[in-house]
Amino acid sequence: MAASMEQSVATRVCETTSCDKEAKLQCPTCIKLGISGSFFCNQECFKGFWGEHKKVHKKAKGEDNQDITEDQKSEWAGFKFTGALRPGKVMKKRTAPDHIPRPDYAEHPTGEPTSERQMRGNHNIRILTAEEQEGVRQACKLGREVLDIAAKAIGVGVTTAEIDRLVYEACIDRQCYPSPLNYYCFPASCCTSVNEVICHGIPDTRKLEDGDIVNVDITVYYKGYHGDLNETFYVGKVDERYKKLVRVAWECLDLAIKEVKPGVRYRDIGSFIQKHAQANGFSVVRSYCGHGIHSLFHTAPNVPHYAKNKAIGIMKPGHSFTIEPMINEGVWRDEMWPDKWTAVTEDGKRSAQFEHTLLVTETGCEILTRRREKNAQPHFMDSENNAE
Ligand code: MF3
Ligand code: CO
Ligand code: CO
Repeated sequence: MAASMEQSVATRVCETTSCDKEAKLQCPTCIKLGISGSFFCNQECFKGFWGEHKKVHKKAKGEDNQDITEDQKSEWAGFKFTGALRPGKVMKKRTAPDHIPRPDYAEHPTGEPTSERQMRGNHNIRILTAEEQEGVRQACKLGREVLDIAAKAIGVGVTTAEIDRLVYEACIDRQCYPSPLNYYCFPASCCTSVNEVICHGIPDTRKLEDGDIVNVDITVYYKGYHGDLNETFYVGKVDERYKKLVRVAWECLDLAIKEVKPGVRYRDIGSFIQKHAQANGFSVVRSYCGHGIHSLFHTAPNVPHYAKNKAIGIMKPGHSFTIEPMINEGVWRDEMWPDKWTAVTEDGKRSAQFEHTLLVTETGCEILTRRREKNAQPHFMDSENNAE
């Protein structure tokens, strides 16, 4: 990473080993990372010592050799944010080690999921064989393990980039490819959506703050199959009104799952969700839907979470799909940040989401991404019980 110098008021001795001139220039990367005491006398010394000096940055960021990508400030210039949240810096995109099997888009220069695109406009819903069902089941079980690891790490002062790093490592440890990585060029291993972010938030250097809510959305690809789930978490002490939002979003998913069984139309799911959201004074996001999932990340059926939709298809045993309602405090409308991923509420009020991957059975459905501990509930409920 090339670096330019920034003027600073402090006066020290130059960091270059053979130089003891007065140093007033501070390394900009050190400033960003909060490293104190690194000063140089001039550009020449800074550049000459860069090879050695940059190790300090790596150490500060952990051993994983991640550099912060170049400033994309121009992209944001003049953008009117809908709420109080601001982006941090996005870390450099990771690649999975060679031995990890990966989906087609992982290697594609524009992240195009070629196999998924071939199915576009095809409303046929695949009925999985027993073997395929077991494949999705295993991916979902591992996805759940990864989400539980992320859950443990959440707290005040933790960056979403750090959560992403843990997610990446937990995936690799399990021989999984983190499905979001390079999907249409998505730059990280999971989505982290804070407060007014509806979904697809990019992990970055912003620290989670007391009172935030954050959704972590995990998808893993294991032995040819994807498993997809998310939960919204409390950070520190959360205001009652946001707790209600999170609780209602959870209830929306829960009651929708109870409707899943053979013969039910995919288009009817949204009415149950919208009814419950509205009864609590909340709205339902319309731009993002649940989806079929197996060897493809996003495929038929499309599963809207709002009422009176025109989704195609009837549930049959062997279908696998997600339900992932996004519930807003205020208006249902969404807007996208200039990063082309982060979906935020149009009014800047908060949004919460929960997601499971389901397998339709003869009598109902199997929640493939469920927690398997006895009496396990979503993590936000654990923290409510611990706090009170
Ligand atoms: N996991 C998300 C979903 O529930 C999709 C994330 S795609 C990404 O469908 F590219 F943003 F990661
Ligand atoms: Co999904
Ligand atoms: Co997801």
